Amino acid sequence: MKFKSIRGTKDVLPGEVEDWQYVEKTIRHVMSIFNYREIRTPVFEQTGLFARSIGELTDIVSKEMYTFKDRSDESLTLRPEGTASALRAYIQHNVGEQSPLTKLYYMGPMFRQERPQAGRLRQFHQFGVEAIGSSSPQLDVEMMLIALRIYRELGIQEFTLKVNSVGCERCRPPYKRLLIGALRGVRHQLSPESQARVDQNPLRVIDSKDENDQALIRDVPLMKDHLCPECNIHFGEVQTLLHGTGTPFVVDGRLVRGLDYYTKTAFEITSSALGSQDALAGGGRYDLLVEELGGKPTPGVGFAAGIERLLMVLGKVGTPRRVDFRPVLFIVTIDDEARRWAFAKTHELRLKGVRVEIDYLGRSVKAQMREANRQEALYTVVIGETELLSRSGRLKNMQTGGETAVNLDEIESAIQS
Ligand code: HAM
Repeated sequence: MKFKSIRGTKDVLPGEVEDWQYVEKTIRHVMSIFNYREIRTPVFEQTGLFARSIGELTDIVSKEMYTFKDRSDESLTLRPEGTASALRAYIQHNVGEQSPLTKLYYMGPMFRQERPQAGRLRQFHQFGVEAIGSSSPQLDVEMMLIALRIYRELGIQEFTLKVNSVGCERCRPPYKRLLIGALRGVRHQLSPESQARVDQNPLRVIDSKDENDQALIRDVPLMKDHLCPECNIHFGEVQTLLHGTGTPFVVDGRLVRGLDYYTKTAFEITSSALGSQDALAGGGRYDLLVEELGGKPTPGVGFAAGIERLLMVLGKVGTPRRVDFRPVLFIVTIDDEARRWAFAKTHELRLKGVRVEIDYLGRSVKAQMREANRQEALYTVVIGETELLSRSGRLKNMQTGGETAVNLDEIESAIQS
């Protein structure tokens, strides 16, 4: 019997993994520039943590979570996102007591049982950023700048930043009533999915993917036009700061995020290089979430971005650059004595940090040269009895094909010059 990976999951093999490593390195570099520190949390948590934060009525919690009972009958869930876990850890370890503002980032696998399609997986990877402890709109904009900086650093230029405000606990309830009133007239013509949402989660009707729904709700009131003064000032300041940093953006009053914890700012970055799953990143402010999870009232803002989607765009429009794995030197050997010498020499050079490779399969000189070529080794040297006796060999530059004599005790300096 042959086993296969689970539908919606993906193996990252050598050849592709170098792109991942390059992206991860770039993310870490940008995070250090913005002064964010990494947090690593477990991939599973108590189910209640996600239900409570993301919201019982969201698609994620109601139909996409990988939830199971462990042997002690406790309900556990593979994390569908990183914010809830980061805040759980923040609260549990009293991180807020050490400094009033905590800037965190994370990278890792997330799990959602969605219908797999291009850009939508069941195990996918996110990098995410959270700033906990400040209600300043500067941090809302910092989130957007971090995401855009990472994309630019990777050579991705084409994207759209969409921003909106989803209001707060003061202005959202009266707006919701207004919206439900407006939806009532068209309710029975809406798609079954939207009909079900009218009472429970009316905001989600607004971002329905159904074209007929969109035509029916073209004129419904939008949250951004019904904000309370505080939310309105905040939203205005976010836009002013974006203008001040020369960041192009569009206000999208129909942007509704699929998680319930947002207050005030919500944003998404989309790319036309992606198909229907065009969101590269999404985030926003969540000023009530820390308290909701049992911490002291503490404002926060963050975003997360899909790494697979980023790599898809990178493959199409970016300039993929890879972590260099090519051996600097491939030592080709003729006999057992040469193999022993090469093994010790390789050990010595690797201790010094040089990428060296040898043959472990007893292959012919010709096959070893072919292997060196396949691995794109920069130099090769063929070692046999003659070379060991004379302590010298011919160092071949695999790119130019040129050969030079080399003293075997001075290989290191020869390949570095
Ligand atoms: P989200 O919008 O659910 O937000 O996910 C963020 C990003 O993760 C998406 O824009 C997309 O790139 C990627 N993503 C989501 N689901 C999938 C999937 N099934 N397959 C591939 N990629 C996917 C959050 O997760 C929030 N925690 C963001 C946040 C952080 N808000 C505040 N802080």
